[in-house]
Amino acid sequence: MLAAARSTETDSENFKWPPEGVTRAPFRLFTDPDIYKLEQQRIFRGRVWNFLCLDVDIPNPGDYKTTSVGETPVVATRDGEGKIHAMVNRCAHKGALVCLKKKDNVSSLTCVYHAWNYGLDGRLKSVAFRNGVRGQGGMPEDFDVSQHRLQPLKVENFCGIIFGTFVPDMESVETYLGPEMSSFIKRNLGRPLRVLGTHSQIIHNNWKLYAENLRDSYHATLLHTFYTTFKVNRLDMDGGIVLSDRKWHHVSFARRAEMTEAAEYRESNVHSAGYDSALEGPGLLAAWEEFDDGITHSIQTVFPNMCIQFTLNSLAIRFFAPRGTSETELFWIYLGYDRDTEEQSQMRVMQSNLTGAAGLVSLEDGCINEFVQRGTRADPQCASFMEMGGRKVESEKNSRATETAVRGAVVGTL
Ligand SMILES: [Fe+2]
Repeated sequence: MLAAARSTETDSENFKWPPEGVTRAPFRLFTDPDIYKLEQQRIFRGRVWNFLCLDVDIPNPGDYKTTSVGETPVVATRDGEGKIHAMVNRCAHKGALVCLKKKDNVSSLTCVYHAWNYGLDGRLKSVAFRNGVRGQGGMPEDFDVSQHRLQPLKVENFCGIIFGTFVPDMESVETYLGPEMSSFIKRNLGRPLRVLGTHSQIIHNNWKLYAENLRDSYHATLLHTFYTTFKVNRLDMDGGIVLSDRKWHHVSFARRAEMTEAAEYRESNVHSAGYDSALEGPGLLAAWEEFDDGITHSIQTVFPNMCIQFTLNSLAIRFFAPRGTSETELFWIYLGYDRDTEEQSQMRVMQSNLTGAAGLVSLEDGCINEFVQRGTRADPQCASFMEMGGRKVESEKNSRATETAVRGAVVGTL
């Protein structure tokens, strides 16, 4: 994740990663515009698979959905044969956005500026006034529409997720993820999906602080007292962290049924922990078991900017796009399965109140990363300290009192 920071190509000629390595994250990573520019090339256009959309977002021929890869506007389409394509959403003429809506259904893609028209695969089909008007003007004789198109991305559909990459010879998504990450995605998403709802929010922090927050199992039950109080997710439950072979991706998991209350929670000065609180509507947490592995809470990250959350019956994908050094757009996609009963769908919708911009749990993340952004911006030469769980970067299958996954995101490209 942090490869860009090691470069001497930044203005900050004297910048060196702290000698402690992956247990430190220099604060300049969150504010330096040169690092931000390098990330666009080296991370988002580098050897990664980026989340674009879901297969069910564009089910019909002619459907499109717009998104972004880093700062680059991208559109995913389904053509007349059902094949999915993804292209930079930028006209080959003057560079204007071509697709302007979040989603639409069209027979072809036309730029509103000069009416250049493209097929659903991004190939240029026609140019307005190509032969001029009344014999005057027009394109040169040697103008060839086949030489112009919307810049394509390589795409792959993995478990209903459409991933895209700028690297033509990129390995498969399954290879990129590794066997353990792939199989956990198949566990959660390997059946027909139904989108229950979406929303997005702007968070006022660098995108990497959110990437870090998702991998930070240490904070989850300290900051999020709803989790702790109502025993949705606690570190005294059976659980752990699995890192991918490359360390870039991770799964954090817990089993709600297996908990022996640890004294450390009462001794840790957890902020306003309402241990005696009760829910007026306890049905919120009356979940059914989805799988026979006992896992009732999981957060899985896919590098660089995607997460799959499964808390009780609340299944969601989050992805987050950088909007400058200190703003990030965070998207939430709440999912169910096509086979769900109406009652199950309603339960998933109710539990979606746990997460999101105003959720009972994750509203705190929306502000805590901003607290870090505001706390660190004056001192780019300082660094965070990440030695919880030791200094190693390995899976911890029996503990989540660790920052190993955060270190993993650093070590992957350091
Ligand atoms: Fe959190």
